[in-house]
Amino acid sequence: MTSVEEIDISAARRIASRHRAQGNSLVTVLQDVQEEYGYLPREVLEAVAEEMEVPYPQAYGLATFYASFSLQPRGKHHICVCMGTACHVRGAANVLEKLERDLGIKSGQTSEDLKYSLESVNCLGACALGPVMVVNGVYHGKVSSRDVDKILGDLE
Ligand code: FES
Repeated sequence: MTSVEEIDISAARRIASRHRAQGNSLVTVLQDVQEEYGYLPREVLEAVAEEMEVPYPQAYGLATFYASFSLQPRGKHHICVCMGTACHVRGAANVLEKLERDLGIKSGQTSEDLKYSLESVNCLGACALGPVMVVNGVYHGKVSSRDVDKILGDLE
């Protein structure tokens, strides 16, 4: 695994300085930087703050406020299960349990091979389709634990 010291921050500086010249927001910069690195390591976040001429706590605050940003390495495949009330009453817990069993990780964790990240949230805004899970940005509705095999199989 790459140690923190080995992270090359030049891409983050390049992205931030381009956005700063265009007058774009810090959120836009963080989105592009996360796309480049897969997550927002501390060194990268510091470089972005410096380039954007904002205090580090401001950049850190934004990165922790939005669920779409991650300060930890994330898996190649990002799986999010809704555990909100509407999804829960339709069996979301079974879906999450099945995923935790099959992937060998708990909600909030990333597999050691960095292949999968699993998380749960309280609502994905598609309650009528519950249980809902989002895999790499694609919504899957009315998911049963049996559907999980097919969805995971398609990721291989
Ligand atoms: S409660 Fe699951 S999408 Fe709203």
